Amino acid sequence: MYKQIIRPLLFILPPEFIHNLVVSGLKFFFRIPGKKWIIRKISLVINPNLEREIFGLKFRNPVGIAAGFDKQALLYNELANFGFGFVEIGTLTPLPQPGNPKPRLFRLPKDQALINRMGFNNIGVDEAIKNLKNRKTDIIIGGNIGKNTATPNEQAAQDYLICFEKLFDYVDYFVVNVSCPNISNLQELQDKGNLLEILGKLQLSNNGKQNPKPILLKISPDLTNNQLDELIEIVDETKISGIVATNTSTSRNNLKTSARDLEKIGNGGLSGQPVRDRSTEIIRYLAEKSGKAFPIIGSGGVFTPEDAIEKINAGADLVQVYTGFIYEGPLIGKKINKRLLNY
Ligand SMILES: Cc1cc2nc3c(=O)[nH]c(=O)nc-3n(C[C@H](O)[C@H](O)[C@H](O)COP(=O)(O)O)c2cc1C
Repeated sequence: MYKQIIRPLLFILPPEFIHNLVVSGLKFFFRIPGKKWIIRKISLVINPNLEREIFGLKFRNPVGIAAGFDKQALLYNELANFGFGFVEIGTLTPLPQPGNPKPRLFRLPKDQALINRMGFNNIGVDEAIKNLKNRKTDIIIGGNIGKNTATPNEQAAQDYLICFEKLFDYVDYFVVNVSCPNISNLQELQDKGNLLEILGKLQLSNNGKQNPKPILLKISPDLTNNQLDELIEIVDETKISGIVATNTSTSRNNLKTSARDLEKIGNGGLSGQPVRDRSTEIIRYLAEKSGKAFPIIGSGGVFTPEDAIEKINAGADLVQVYTGFIYEGPLIGKKINKRLLNY
């Protein structure tokens, strides 16, 4: 029903408008008495065989919502009712910022993909905390953190630290986002020196806490094998808890969307089916090269249960969906979990 009726209607209007409409619609919908019960009845797959204990946290199932979907921590309570095992909120920055001018989100239906250059639009960490205080779900919540666009890279570590310290009591794990292609020069923070500084500062603060929390690093699918080798060393040196592989790509290779349309869209990070294989390749490389030394969250082009299984077989402990949710609908988590049970 989603693909035949709902999706064609939603796809008539601009994607960011629809995203905001769906967020408001879902918030309203779940306020109607009895609706939460119905959605949970339809969507939840509860089974001990789906549970995972990864970096010291217990996930009710391994399928989560990737960062960017609930940037402002507005919808995680509602998303939990659709049967996801975890939701990663953010990317949040210390100060609120509007992001890039609109339009900044584009559908590529021929490729089952999206291109976005949102640019870390978010309400800032303080406002997001107000939303996180309203937590009504016991699923795992991750906090994806970044730096403000105006903050120069030399001071980036401080921005990550501010977000980390402020969010510490409100999320279960952290993801350091240095791989968004839509903030100028952000990806330079993926260099070893910069990463050691940022992750070192976060770990220093983390280790001073009574119960330190897992910190993961989110990486780009456009990294070379040499850079991935370096990353394995960085995980080892900084003792962070794992990697999220991967973010969106700047590549436009092998797309069915015409060159003219791509030119009209312009810059941005590509997500969805075209990044699936590269993201899986990176997961496999990291897992094999490191001897599966750390947990990996697989993100990139997960649309079907088979996509999720492919990532798990490559070495992912958990998977996340974003573009797959848009193209496959809100029952994507249920479908993957049902199949994982029989796998
Ligand atoms: C519109 C949009 C916004 C996104 N915003 C963020 C973000 O703020 N932080 C982040 O780490 N990743 C962000 N992502 C990347 C996703 O979390 C995910 O890693 C990527 O899209 C690949 O997964 P997918 O193919 O399932 O979409 C965004 C993706 C999209 C499509």
